Amino acid sequence: MCGIVGYVGPRQALEVVVDGLRRLEYRGYDSAGIAVVNQGKIESRKKAGKLANLEDELSSEPMSMSSTGIGHTRWATHGAPNDVNAHPHLSEDGSIAVIHNGIIENFATLRDELRSQGVELLSQTDTEIVAHLLSAQMKVSENLPDALRQVAQRLTGAFTLVVVHADSPDLVVAARRNSPLVVGRGDGENFLASDVAAFISFTRNAIELGQDQVVVLTPQDVLVTDFFGNHVDVLEYEVTWDAAAAEKGGFDLFMLKEIAEQPKAVADTLLGRIDDSGTVTLDGLELEPEYLASIDKIVIVACGTAYHSGMIAKYAIEHWTRIACEVELASEFRYRDPILRPSTLVIAISQSGETMDTLMAMRYAREQGAKVLAICNSNGSTIPRESDAVIYTHAGPEIAVASTKAFLTQIVACYLFAMFMAQSRGGVDKAAAREIALELATMAHKIDLVLDTVVGVREIAKELVDANSVLFLGRSVGFPVALEGALKLKELAYMHAEGFAAGELKHGPIALIEDGLPVFVVVPPPTDELHDKIVSNIQEVRARGAKTIVLAEEGDSSIDEFADHIIRLPKCPALLQPLVATVPLQVFSCEMATLKGFDVDQPRNLAKSVTVE
Ligand code: G6P
Repeated sequence: MCGIVGYVGPRQALEVVVDGLRRLEYRGYDSAGIAVVNQGKIESRKKAGKLANLEDELSSEPMSMSSTGIGHTRWATHGAPNDVNAHPHLSEDGSIAVIHNGIIENFATLRDELRSQGVELLSQTDTEIVAHLLSAQMKVSENLPDALRQVAQRLTGAFTLVVVHADSPDLVVAARRNSPLVVGRGDGENFLASDVAAFISFTRNAIELGQDQVVVLTPQDVLVTDFFGNHVDVLEYEVTWDAAAAEKGGFDLFMLKEIAEQPKAVADTLLGRIDDSGTVTLDGLELEPEYLASIDKIVIVACGTAYHSGMIAKYAIEHWTRIACEVELASEFRYRDPILRPSTLVIAISQSGETMDTLMAMRYAREQGAKVLAICNSNGSTIPRESDAVIYTHAGPEIAVASTKAFLTQIVACYLFAMFMAQSRGGVDKAAAREIALELATMAHKIDLVLDTVVGVREIAKELVDANSVLFLGRSVGFPVALEGALKLKELAYMHAEGFAAGELKHGPIALIEDGLPVFVVVPPPTDELHDKIVSNIQEVRARGAKTIVLAEEGDSSIDEFADHIIRLPKCPALLQPLVATVPLQVFSCEMATLKGFDVDQPRNLAKSVTVE
C-alpha cells in the first residue's frame, strides 16, 4: 500500500527512483510523484493515475540531473487520487519534500493547529501536514534528521515518511512506525524502499528497520536512531532472490508467470523439510518442545487469500493433530475480545508480512499472552520479526496483486506445521501423518500436471465472458477453494461471484440458480465420504438450469453426465486437493479479466500490501 523509494549516490537519482517505482507499482497505482534535490532547490513532479502518466510527462519535460531523489506511488487514503493529493508534498517555501505511506491518525488536530498558525494547506492529505510541521521544526532543530525525529514523536498512527531538503544534497532521511521500510546498502550509494524489489537490481544487501526508528542516508553511510536520537544497531542481510525474479520473464502478465511458477514455489517450500521417511523438520520453528506439547488451541488470523489458506489449514490441523483450530479474519479478531491463553498458539499467515490487520491481530494476541507463529513469504518483514516463530514460504517475489503462488505455499506451510505437530506430539496418528507428508512431497509435480489444463479453462472463460454472475461450490477443503475462486473473479474481472459450502446450497443460495448461470463445483476424490453428496448437489443445480463446470479427479466418471464442462485434477488425497483445484480457478479469473480488457496485475481499487487498518 503505497510504494516508497529514496536514493542517494552517484547515479541519476531520477532514473533509479522511476525504476524503483515501476517495481513497487503493485503497492498502489492511484498516482505517482518524484522529488529531486538540485542546486539548493527541490524539483518535484506528480501525476494522478499510473506511473506511465508521470513517465510521459517526464519524457516531454525532463527533470534535472541529481544525486538525491525520492518517489512515491499512491494508494489513496486521505483525499481523492488527483494530481494535488499525489505525493511528494512540499513545505510552503518549497524547501522540504515529503512522501508517506500509512495513516497519520491525529492529522485533524495537527491540521487545525497549522491552520491557526496561518498555514495554507493545498491538499486533502494527512501527509502534507508533515511538510509544514517539519518546516516549522527546522527553525529550532539543528538539522533535518533532528527535525524529523521531533515531528515523528508528535504523530500517531502508521507512517513511513521519507524527506529531502533543498539545502541538503546527498541526504535522505526517513522515519518508520508500523509501516514497511527497508534500506539497500550499496557501495558509495544507498537506497530506501517499501520493499527490496525496488533496489534489487543495484544491491542485495538490505537492512530492515525496526519500529519507531529514523534512518539517515548519505552516499557513504546509513545511520539509524530511535525517535530520540539514540543510536540503534542494525542487522544487515542478503536478499536471496535476484532482479530477474521480479521481472515478467517472457510472460505477458506477472499473474501468468506466478501461476506457472507454482510447482517450483511449492517444491521450494517443501525443500529439506520432509525426509524420505516422511518426517517433517521445520527450520525457524523456535518453540520449546514443552510449549508445543502444551498447545490446546490454535487460532489462525489472516486476510484475503491468506485467510482462505487458513480455512484450508483448519481441516488439516484438526484432523491430524486433534487440536481445536479456529480461523478468523484478522480485521475482526481483536475487536471481539477473543479468549487467548498462554496455551493458545496464534498463526498469522501473510504473504507480505506487512498487512496491518494481521499485524494488529498478532500484536493483540501476544499482549494477551499467546504465542504467535508467522507463516510468511517476505524475509525480515514486520510480522515474522514480531512473532515467536516463523515458517517461511519460499514462493519468491509475488508482484501481481491477486495472490497465487503465495497462496499454494501458505497451504503447504500450514500442512507442514500440522504434520510436524502430529509427528512431534503423542496421541495422534503419526503413521498417517508420515504417509500424507510423502504425498505432499509429490504435489509440485501434480500442480505441474494441472497446468496442462489451462487451454481448456481459457476456452471455458471465452464461453462465459458475458455471464453476469458466477457461483462456486465446494465442501470440506473444497469450500475455501470455492471462496478463493469467487474472490479471484471479483478482484480481477469485477464480476459478481460467490463461493458457497455446497451443503448450504439448499438453505438459501439455490434460489439464485437460473437458466444458464455458471456454477463451478469442486468435487472431492471418489474415495471421500462427501463425493456422492457433491454429485447430488451438481444434479440439483443442473436441474434448475445452471451451467455446470466440474473440477473432478481424473477417472471419476460419476460426474460426466451432469457436467457441461469437466476440468480434470490429478489424483491426490482429499486434504491435498486444494493445491491442484485452485489452479484452474486462478487461470479462469485471469482469462476472464483479460478478455474483458482489464488490468490483471493491477486491478482497480486494490493494492497488494495493505498497510492501513
Ligand atoms: C490484499 C491483497 C490480497 C492478499 C491480502 C493479504 O488484500 O490484495 O491478495 O491476499 O492483502 O495479504 P498478505 O500479504 O497479508 O498475505
